[in-house]
This record gives sequence, C-alpha cells and structure tokens, in this order.
Amino acid sequence: MVQLSSLAAALAVGLLPNLAVAAGLHEAAVAKGKLYFGTATDNGELSDSPYLKQLGNTADFGQITPSNSMKWESTEPSQNSFSFAGGDAIADLAKTNGQKLRCHALVWHSQLPNWVSSGTWTNETLVAAMKNHVTKVATHYKGRCYAWDVVNEALNEDGTYRDSPFLKHIGEAYLPIAFAAAAAADPTAKLYYNDYNIESPGPKATAAAKIVKLIQSYGVKIDGVGMQAHLIVGSSPSESALSSTLSSYTSLGVEAAYTELDIRLKLPSTDAQLAQQSNDYRAVAAACIKNTDCVGITIWDWTDKYSWIPDVFPGEGAACPWDEKLVKKPAYAGLLAGLGGGSSTTTTTAGTTMTTTTSSAPPTSTGVAQKWEQCGGLHWTGPTVCVSGTTCQKQNDYYSQCL
Ligand SMILES: *[C@@H]1O[C@H](CO)[C@@H](O)[C@H](O)[C@H]1NC(C)=O
Repeated sequence: MVQLSSLAAALAVGLLPNLAVAAGLHEAAVAKGKLYFGTATDNGELSDSPYLKQLGNTADFGQITPSNSMKWESTEPSQNSFSFAGGDAIADLAKTNGQKLRCHALVWHSQLPNWVSSGTWTNETLVAAMKNHVTKVATHYKGRCYAWDVVNEALNEDGTYRDSPFLKHIGEAYLPIAFAAAAAADPTAKLYYNDYNIESPGPKATAAAKIVKLIQSYGVKIDGVGMQAHLIVGSSPSESALSSTLSSYTSLGVEAAYTELDIRLKLPSTDAQLAQQSNDYRAVAAACIKNTDCVGITIWDWTDKYSWIPDVFPGEGAACPWDEKLVKKPAYAGLLAGLGGGSSTTTTTAGTTMTTTTSSAPPTSTGVAQKWEQCGGLHWTGPTVCVSGTTCQKQNDYYSQCL
C-alpha cells in the first residue's frame, strides 16, 4: 500500500506515480518488453519439492534450460543411438509450467561421448556424424525450443578457435554446417552461438562477433548470441562495458541473451560481497533492459544449493540469487531493480524529486503456506499464514518463509 500522505502529496501536485509494481523477475522483464527471465535446472533436482515449487513460480521464471540432459553425451551416448528421456523431462516440465524452453547444446567440445572425442575421423565422416546428431536431436525437439545453443564455446580466450575434434577435422566450416543442419531440422527455433567471457570488450568478444559474420557469410541462418555471463563479484563488467558489447552483437542483425548468469565469490561470503554481488547482478539486468534486441536473461540455476560453481572452482560459490536454504539474497533485489521492477518510483518536477515507497501489497490469495514456502515480503500477494507447526520468519525485506 502506498502511504496515504505520499499519495495525497502526489495527487496534490498532479502526479500519480506508476503503482503497478512487478511481483517477480519474469514479470518485471516482460513488463519491459523482454521475452523471459529464466533459470537452468537439472533432472536430479526435480525430486526436491520445495525446489520444484519455486522453479515453477512463473512470476520469477518464464523460461528454463536443461543444464545437462540435452548435451551430446546424454542424447547420443553411442553412435546413432539416441536417448531423450532426461531432456524430455525438462521439456515436459516447461510445457506443464507454461515456460519457454532454451535447448542446450548441440555441438560442444566438452561432455562429448568417447566415440566422438576419441573416434578416428576424416572430414567427411565427422561432418556426417555431426549433421546426424544435430538433425536427430533438433528434429526430436522440433517446435518445442524457443532457442537452441547450436555451437557452444568454440573460442579460446585470445579469440582463436578452440581445439576440438570438429575444428581439427572439419575446420571452421563446422560452425556454418552445424547451424545449417539445425535450421533445416527446426526452422522456428532461434539458433544461437553461446560462449563465456564474451560479455565485455576484448579479443574473445570480437571473435564471437566474427563467428556471427562467418555464419552469415555462408548464407546460413544465425539468430542470436548467447553470453553465458559466469561472472565474478568485484570484477564483473560495468554496465557500460556490458552494453557496448551487447550492441556489438545486436548491430549485426541478431538478438542476444544472457544465458547462464551467475556471479561467484570467494567463500565465506560477507555482507559487503553480497551487496557488491547485488549491484553486479543489477548491472547485467539493466544492460539487457536497455537493448531492445536483448530478449532475456537465464540464471545458471537459481539457488546455491544446486550451483555448479563449488565443484568447478574450489573455495568459491554463493553465486546464485537464492542461498542454499532457498532464501532470497540481496542479489534478488539487485536483479529486480535492474529489470525496472524495483520498489520505489521517483518522479521529478520543477527541480524537486519525490520518491514514493510502496510497501507490501495486501494478500490477494488466502490459504496456508506449507513448510519452506514463502509467507511474506515486499510485493508478496500470496498466503501469509503458515501451516501449523511452522511460523512465518522474515529473512529479508523481500522474503519471509514458513520454518
Ligand atoms: C571439410 O568439408 C567441408 C564440406 O563438407 C568443407 O567446407 C571444409 O572446408 C572441409 N574442411 C577441410 C579442413 O578441408
């Protein structure tokens, strides 16, 4: 509710601030013309029911990406023998929840089955095997993927091509060949080149733009650049560096998205790091909002409970906007602010600035929240009563939970 005195003051000077405040990350992104805010998920996590419940909260997540189950080792573990159960489970979940699906990834040097990485190949035989993989997988998911990451991580940090069986036997032509096969198999999916450390200017970002031009030069369709955005608290790019790099891609006539966003820190996390992380998340969201061809943002899982970071970067973690107990961190508010869904509206007139702060809206749904579920917080409109045996405990301004 808006404080009546502020509202009266606003009306008195003929100003009525926009009182419609988005309730979640996806709603805030859509309100600014984006297609989605989403998250990665993985099959093993789906048996965790509090996790599954928030994963399906479409106020926050309008899109999901399978982190592993559509990769080559999962979908074609032995040659021309396909296995789609894991990927199908995530695709079905997206459909049930009414969420968009980003499909990930068709051609990548990592998580390849042995028969590809250690096979004996000629240019011709590997082109045939790669085309078969791309065609069969993209055909299986035809019409279900908003986007496909067709080629993932083809670049070294210095902007040269990364060594892989594909580069070794086919040369750079593997990129347009893979995109052409994907376009033929699923003409409506947006086809992306996806990589990390291409969010700010440098040789790798320049090379990613060159890949877009390479594929276009073959007369083959490429629709987007996916910036993974696995960032680090404190050395995350500035909003202006993010913006200029984003437009270096969109100026080529393709869309762009942040596809795997997380912002890790050195453990244990401090309040200062969490505040910096919140601001770093805000900058990414704001950069996407300001570019009309940035279609959305996907975080690489939403809770630290299932983040890949501690396994791959020992001593680092706490990279996600929700902590291991599924409680929102300051990063959530940073994202929401960057998406323009923040909690205050500011209007300026005749040299004076007036800020109207909104507080929690009254609950619009009755009912009882179960253990672990949300029971309050800024903009929360769900149940505020907890099931017996638990009490509603405030975690921060944005989140109270039945514990
Ligand atoms: C491999 O064959 C493709 C055509 O299928 C061709 O475009 C590419 O240049 C060849 N690569 C090499 C290294 O000869």
